[in-house]
Amino acid sequence: MTFETIIYEKKDNVAWITLNRPDKLNAQNDTVRAEVIAALEQANSDDEVKVIVLTGAGDRAFSAGADISQFPQWQPLNVLQRSKGARRPYTVIREIPKPVIAMVNGLALGGGCELAMACDIIIASDKARFGQPEINVGVIPGGGGTQILPRLVGEKKAKEMVFTGDFISAEEAWRLGMINKVVPADKLREAVEEVIAKLKSKSPAILKLAKIAVNKSLETPLSVGMEIENELFAMCFGTQDQKEGARAFLEKRLPEYKGM
Ligand code: COA
Repeated sequence: MTFETIIYEKKDNVAWITLNRPDKLNAQNDTVRAEVIAALEQANSDDEVKVIVLTGAGDRAFSAGADISQFPQWQPLNVLQRSKGARRPYTVIREIPKPVIAMVNGLALGGGCELAMACDIIIASDKARFGQPEINVGVIPGGGGTQILPRLVGEKKAKEMVFTGDFISAEEAWRLGMINKVVPADKLREAVEEVIAKLKSKSPAILKLAKIAVNKSLETPLSVGMEIENELFAMCFGTQDQKEGARAFLEKRLPEYKGM
């Protein structure tokens, strides 16, 4: 598939999806969103892909959010229709049973911050900044900024960010538990490769169950979540990879997982 606004590369079992509008700070218009979804689905249906990475082209931005130039045409009904009728990158990332890493190389604002937060792991450059500045253009966040952000940083900090639109540094985002790691800009790729190597050494089948289980923790009361976890834990024992993992441990060797 050829793309206009993103770059899709597959290398060593990793799909790299790069938002590619650097002159517009990788702002997301309808084409970007549709192409990100198509690329995620391509990566998901490709058995060779074990890990997916999302990043932004250039050294200024991961993504500065929704393309504001589209806003003058938007009306309540078509905004509702586009979010309810169509799938959205945030949902697709959470639904895809493969690990998705956000490699945040610069500004992650509005829908860019939300896109990063939808990913399973966020590794950021020390030049990155995060924010939900929608308030400055007369709207509220529409892709999880009022829902996922408070779950990550707590109600008070989330309200401060959403009400003021102020940006926070990568260092502060890390301190708040919003992102996994901050590294110097020239070490960003290396840091992401380290995480990729760890994820590739695990069973894709068990990683899938792990992702579903942790996702559910945000969506259910604790008692229900514990039951779901127990069921998914039981399912592990129906996989060949569980047998291989235990056998390899007992035989003091590295496991060779098949992903089933
Ligand atoms: N939508 C559309 N275009 C955007 C954009 C967005 N969200 N963010 C940046 N751009 C464009 C700018 O219009 C500019 O394009 P131009 O060169 O054709 O004029 C280009 O990207 C560079 O941005 P610029 O504003 O000149 O850079 P800056 O360093 O002065 O400021 C920001 C950077 C991020 C502070 C500023 O671009 C900004 O506030 N962007 C909007 C962020 C936002 O509110 N996102 C949530 C949207 S709901």
